[in-house]
Amino acid sequence: MAENGKVSKLSVGEKSVQMPILEGTLGPDVVDVRKLYGDAGVFTFDPGFTSTASCQSKITYIDGDEGVLLHRGYPIEELARHSDFEEVSYLLLYGELPNKEQRANFVRGITYHTMVHEQLREFFRGFRRDAHPMAVMCGVVGALSAFYHDSTDINDPHQRMVASYRLVAKMPTIAAMAYKYSAGQPFVYPRNDLNYAENFLHMMFAVPAEPYTPNPILARAMDRIFTLHADHEQNASTSTVRLAGSSGANPFACIAAGIACLWGPAHGGANEAVLLMLEEIGSKDRVAEYVKKAKNKDDPFRLMGFGHRVYKNYDPRAKVMQETCHEVLGALGKQDDPLLELAMELERIALEDDYFVEKKLYPNVDFYSGIILRAMGFPTSMFTVLFAVARTVGWVAQWNEMIEDPMQKIGRPRQLYMGAPQRAYVPIEDRK
Ligand code: CMC
Repeated sequence: MAENGKVSKLSVGEKSVQMPILEGTLGPDVVDVRKLYGDAGVFTFDPGFTSTASCQSKITYIDGDEGVLLHRGYPIEELARHSDFEEVSYLLLYGELPNKEQRANFVRGITYHTMVHEQLREFFRGFRRDAHPMAVMCGVVGALSAFYHDSTDINDPHQRMVASYRLVAKMPTIAAMAYKYSAGQPFVYPRNDLNYAENFLHMMFAVPAEPYTPNPILARAMDRIFTLHADHEQNASTSTVRLAGSSGANPFACIAAGIACLWGPAHGGANEAVLLMLEEIGSKDRVAEYVKKAKNKDDPFRLMGFGHRVYKNYDPRAKVMQETCHEVLGALGKQDDPLLELAMELERIALEDDYFVEKKLYPNVDFYSGIILRAMGFPTSMFTVLFAVARTVGWVAQWNEMIEDPMQKIGRPRQLYMGAPQRAYVPIEDRK
């Protein structure tokens, strides 16, 4: 970031304060308010961070008005079409697309970290069989911090990279174990001859009783879903990982914090919520009723999979997801899936409705992903888990970037206090 010579002037009572304006390579300039409190004795107020840049970053850029998403400068549509998840993971972590040798070394490094410590299996047995798999993920990924002590010196770049590889590699294994545990099936070990997406499908759907060959169309779709979810700038879970990491916390524990944040229905939990909503709507003739409900301020119902804090245009990931949805359902002979028809009708009506048009509410990445995942055989409760598997590389890339940033400080927001002013303690016998 560079000071562009422009300054912002603010009058606070009698005081006049000048703040430098900083310029990135793309996107709006930012007013550097770091000295504001020292110079003028006031804080800025921005609940939900709608106008606050919390850090500088070189990883991902979003232009929400134009519907643009770039990873290290490359548009998501091109990465989804021409690249794959392993390559995009390398790009996010190292800043450049790998050459053949770098790619081969990286894939080998990830592949050889996919097994988990055998003792970790015992953690699963502590959960009820009907536990939500995101609850299991929070617990088991947090527990990794008690296993891999040789990769927790966050000031050692090598150890940081080892922790990053471990997290990216072990997430599919843990996710599949969470599913197998809930289904009462034996855990399936990873296979080193399969790629990342194939191996995940294998650990999810193989059983010891018969051989399993991943369907190439479904493996490609899985890979694309992972690619589309790999990173998304300073969203709630990534900011959670950065905030947890800013205190110098254990990397595995930081990712567990990110998983907890992702779980909410306003964030990663939306893909599960979309499917539950479509099932509740049930048929095309009830779409108008639900669109009306979504517009009613007295009704907490929202159209899940619609709207985004940053995109005020079609989410570019949703476009690729919609294409993938048609491909997968076609390959599985499920192109007449009534839920897909319902989703398309809902999208059509909402996109023509004044409320959604005026508020610029478009389908987001989660709108179509659930339909694909359901057709592939994933239970609804696993949808957000898949998001967590894919987003782990984004989380670790952002966490590494934060630790390397010389400007990094512990994250410590301030507040506008609205509570009681100082008062004298009241003994219990004098209280009303
Ligand atoms: N249905 C109906 N109304 C909506 C919706 C929706 N899905 N989304 C936003 N609005 C309305 C909202 O009521 C508000 O109206 P008003 O200005 O009259 O008060 C206006 O649009 C702006 O919404 P907001 O809640 O102030 O915006 P936000 O930026 O804080 O929230 C959001 C963004 C994604 C949380 C929200 O759009 C939402 O709840 N969407 C449904 C959940 C969802 O699909 N989440 C997945 C996000 S994409 C995946 C990810 O990155 O995690």
